[in-house]
Order: sequence, then structure tokens, then C-alpha cells
Amino acid sequence: MADDILNMQAKSWSPESWRAKPIQQVPIYSDLAELQQTESQLATFPPLVFAGEARKLKESLAAVAAGHSFLLQGGDCAESFAEHTADNIRDFFRVFLQMAVVMTFAAASPVVKVGRVAGQFAKPRSSPTEKQNGVELPSYRGDIINDIEFSEKGRTPDPRRLMDAYRQSAATLNLLRAFATGGYANLENAHKWMLGFVKDSPQSHRYQEVADRITETLGFMKAIGLDAKSHPELRQTEFFTSHEALLLGYEQALTRIDSTTGDPYATSGHMLWIGDRTRQHDHAHVEYCRGVKNPIGLKCGPSLKPDDLLRLVDLLNPENEAGRLTLICRFGSDKIVDYLPALIRAVKKEGRTVVWSCDPMHGNTITSGSGGYKTRPFERIMSEIRTFFAVHQAEGTYAGGVHLEMTGKNVTECTGGARMIADSDLHDRYHTHCDPRLNAEQAIEVAFLVAELLKAERATLPAPQARAAE
Ligand code: TRP
Ligand code: MN
Repeated sequence: MADDILNMQAKSWSPESWRAKPIQQVPIYSDLAELQQTESQLATFPPLVFAGEARKLKESLAAVAAGHSFLLQGGDCAESFAEHTADNIRDFFRVFLQMAVVMTFAAASPVVKVGRVAGQFAKPRSSPTEKQNGVELPSYRGDIINDIEFSEKGRTPDPRRLMDAYRQSAATLNLLRAFATGGYANLENAHKWMLGFVKDSPQSHRYQEVADRITETLGFMKAIGLDAKSHPELRQTEFFTSHEALLLGYEQALTRIDSTTGDPYATSGHMLWIGDRTRQHDHAHVEYCRGVKNPIGLKCGPSLKPDDLLRLVDLLNPENEAGRLTLICRFGSDKIVDYLPALIRAVKKEGRTVVWSCDPMHGNTITSGSGGYKTRPFERIMSEIRTFFAVHQAEGTYAGGVHLEMTGKNVTECTGGARMIADSDLHDRYHTHCDPRLNAEQAIEVAFLVAELLKAERATLPAPQARAAE
């Protein structure tokens, strides 16, 4: 009897049930009353996304799990308040469209488009404090919490930042929705998405060729009566948002009950993920995420044992709903072969449906010899993606997606790529608020690699038959 009650308590979920659990990575606010007041006010604000959209993304991800579609997820490591400009958002969206169109066309696969954007503000840190010249201050935890500036004032967590993050997310999302449906994403514009500085690069020639072929295809389709006027799918795209569900007070404030289903949804973004540092099965982040009905991502690093993964899969997707759970693997180019197969086998053996996605960024971060910059060698990023596809091929599962840290700007943060960015170039345009991102050219190069691997995978796996059998 007592056991039953305990069990029921463990099972019962509410938007605030995470508060009774142990928690990692929490900022220490000095004025808790102000924090509470801010969260209460946020709870009265309009949702940023709708439950129906989150359900639509879940359906699209179910198609990815079944091998009919591919997930492209990417954006800044951390969005910043200082760089909130229309140009930045447009440049990001433009390179994202270029990548998506390359993958859709070259691999003949639908692409599910999910930005790390309009809410990606909170960062887990390896240490709660940072020391500079003998001074110790709280670590920077993302613009929703404190400031990157190394000063007492800057590093003090400030509740007002939750409001600023909400408003910036709303404005970013508004522009992205306009770009996605208002004409900018029209396939007829494929040539116009070419970025100025990418124009004379090796990637630009490859991209130009794809754009030429799309234009040719559209011309043919128009001639037979299929054009963008009568077919909105040619002039619009679906673009979803995602971020790490790290700052749970903010997530709780934006949790809403969907009026059509009566189910709770996180309305801060379409998809949320749980970080590799906060995925303890009996802790707060898993508790919050298990209760909302959005698609959920789970970062899987080398420390995740197959049994722990299965327990998390049970907790996060007890009904084994396709599209609910995306496992975002981030092992490192040298470790992925040692860790990924065991996880795939465990999930397969239990008959669990998941999307397997590859984050080739976070396991390949090193400190540059010359300048002390955090960087990622492009070759290792490419190598982890290649191995990810090869392992899935060997296991008979689908490589479902990639998860990238990228920007539309011409930054110098990751070394290598067609332009051979060297260690000594990193200082040139190193702008990230957190981890090093692919620049626009490197991102397109990754898209070509993925397209090639995906095309090869789809040629060997029986996707069309599987579709017919459903
Ligand atoms: N609607 C389709 C899609 O999103 C085709 C499409 C329109 C598209 N604009 C796009 C594809 C831009 C990639 C990029 O897949
Ligand atoms: Mn990162």
C-alpha cells in the first residue's frame, strides 16, 4: 500500500514537479523574490509556439525514425542579446536553406528543418566559477542568466534576463516564420540564397550547380502546370525551433495545457533537448521533460551506458511513440566506433523507436596550440559524420539526422574546411559566445557530405518498401 502511494507520487507529474528533484547546473540568484515574480509574469505571457506545431514536428520526426526523411538541426551554440539583428537571423536562415536544399535535392530526401534558435540562451558549464588574473567570478551561463563580461556585475545572475530572452525569442521566431512562409524560402530563390562571401569559394560552385538543376526542374514543372502559385510547398517551408531545456524555471513558466488535447506542452520552442551533463534519470531535467508532450532530444556522450540509456528511453518515451525521442550522439571522431554500436543494439533489442542524430561538434572540441582558442578541426567533424553513417549501415539502422553548431557569418572558429582555416587564423573573426561554430562555407560543405552519405544509405536500405508496408 505504502509502496503504491510512493509509486504514484513518482509517476505524477506537474510543470513544477522537477523542483523536488536534485538538479545540476543551476544559477544562484541573489533575489529569489524577484526571480519568482518574473517567472509568474512570464507564465501569463502568450506561448511562443503552439502545441499543434509541436505535434506536427513529432510526426515529421516519426518519418525520420522510419527512414523516410532526414533531420537537419543547427544554429548557434548560444544566441546572444548583443547580436540580435535582422541580418544575423537572415544569414543564418539563408545558409540553413542552402544546406536543406542541397540535402533534399542531392539525396532526394525530405529534410526536417529544426533551428537551434529563438530560445537557445542557457549554457551548462564545466565549472561554476571562472578565474582570470587571480579574480574568481561565476561562470558565464548564457545571456538568459548573466553577462559574458568578466565583472562582478556582469556575472551576477539577473532575473530580468528571462524577460529579455522571451522577447528576443518572440521577435526571432516572428522573422523566421515570415522567411519560411512569406516568399523568401521559395525554391525559385535558390540562386539568391548564395551569400556574397561564399560566391568565389569551391563550395559556391557546387552549390551553383545544384541551384541550376533546381531551376531547370522548376522550369520543367512549370511547363507541365505545376508552379509555386498553385503549389505552396514549392514556395514555403516548415521551420521549427529548439533549444536545450536547461533553465527549468523559464520552461515551467512557458508550459501550457493544450486546449485541444488537454496535454501539457513546453511552448518556449517546438523541440527541447536534455544535455549530456543534466540527464541523470532521477534528476530535475529528466523529470521536467518527461511530462511535456513535445519532441524531446537526449544528448548521448561517452559516459552513457546502454542500461542507463534504456532507463531514460523508458522514462521519456514510455509509450514508444515514434518521433517523441531523438538521441543526439556526441562521442568524438575517435570514440564513436567504440560507443555508438552498443547503444544502437540495446535500443534495437528492446524494440524502441528513436531518431538517431549525430552531433559531430561537441566531442571534437580542442584548445588551439597557438592562441589558446577553443576550436574544432573540420576534418574531425566530417570524420564523425562519416563514421556515424557507417555504423548505422553496419547495424541496419538509419542515420536519421545531424545536429550542428553553425552560423551564417564568415567566422573563423573551426579550423580546416575548403579554405583551410589555420590555428593562426582563429583570432581573425572569433565571435562565438560559447563553442566554435561552422561558418557558412563549412556548413555547406557538411551539407554536401551528408547528402552524399544519405544518398548512398538510401540506395542500400529498403526505404520505399518499408513505406508501402506501413
Ligand atoms: N516545402 C518543401 C520543403 O520544405 C520544399 C522547399 C521549399 C524547400 N523551399 C525550400 C526545401 C527551401 C529546402 C529549402 O522541403
Ligand atoms: Mn555548444
